[in-house]
This record gives sequence, C-alpha cells and structure tokens, in this order.
Amino acid sequence: MKSWIAVALMAVLVPVGAISFGSASEDPSTENIMKGLFSKKSGKFNNALKKEIAASPTDWEALQKTTKEIHELGEQLEKAEPEKGSKESWKKLAGKFGEDTKALHEAAEAKELAKVKAAQKSIQTSCKACHDVHKGK
Ligand code: HEC
Repeated sequence: MKSWIAVALMAVLVPVGAISFGSASEDPSTENIMKGLFSKKSGKFNNALKKEIAASPTDWEALQKTTKEIHELGEQLEKAEPEKGSKESWKKLAGKFGEDTKALHEAAEAKELAKVKAAQKSIQTSCKACHDVHKGK
C-alpha cells in the first residue's frame, strides 16, 4: 500500500519538476543566456549575426530577426543571477550589456550597417571585464 502512495506521489511531483525546468526559457539563467548567444556551434552572436553582417547584399530581414533574438536574451541578463560579484556591479555591467544589445537591434531596424558593426564591437569587447568580476571557474 505504501509503495502505491509513493508511485502516486511521484506521478504528481515529476511533472511539476518538469514544468519548472520547461519555463527556464522565459526567465533564463545567466548560463542559458550566455549559451544562447555565445555557444560555439549555435550561439546567435557568433554564428548567425557574424554571417549576416558579412553577407553582401545585407539580408536585413534575417539580420533583424537575429538582432531581435539577441536583444531579447540580452535584456534579460540583468534579471538573471551572476555566479559571483556584487549586485551593484552586476546591475551596471549586465545593464550595459542589455543597452548594447538594444543598440544592436535598433541599428538593424534602421538598416544602418556601420552602427550594427559598432554595437557588435561594443558587445565583443565587453566579455572579459564582466567575466573577471562575475564568472566563477
Ligand atoms: C554582464 C556580464 C557578462 C558579459 C558582458 C559577458 N558574459 Fe559571458 N558569462 C557571464 C557570467 C556571469 C557567466 C557564468 C554563467 C554561469 O555559468 O552561471 C558567463 C558565462 C559565459 C560562458 C560559459 C557558458 C556555459 O556554457 O556555462 C560563455 C561561453 C560566455 N560567457 C561567453 C561570453 C562572451 C563571448 C562574451 C562577450 C562577447 C560574454 N560572455 C560577455 C557574464 C557575462
């Protein structure tokens, strides 16, 4: 009888666990945001964006779709938790990261390739300053 209760409990608890994992994409962790942007194989920033910026003529529709996704991830970074470091510093650095991804998307919306590249560069050079303070080993 007891084991029957355990099975019934598992049936209730397991889906609850699955749901809370499933919603991670709506409120992603710092790790998921970083992977979504910078994973070697599939990160939006160092794959799709790079190719679309280099393409000639520019496929603005494709580029805007990518910068939109990058901005959506970027603006959530401030709400996510860093591995270490102070809240004040995180607010500043993750906040700037959100601003940079916003500038990137706005430049793509305006079809201004020079500004797209400037925002790309600003993001590209922000990694170390933040990792030094907020990324664990
Ligand atoms: C505002 C802060 C911030 C900026 C800017 C930033 N990162 Fe990160 N990054 C982090 C933190 C914090 C982690 C650790 C995440 C964790 O595992 O919880 C991390 C982790 C990573 C990881 C490891 C993800 C994994 O698989 O666990 C990669 C790759 C990465 N960052 C790439 C980059 C690159 C490339 C840039 C710049 C183009 C960059 N990051 C800019 C904060 C930042």
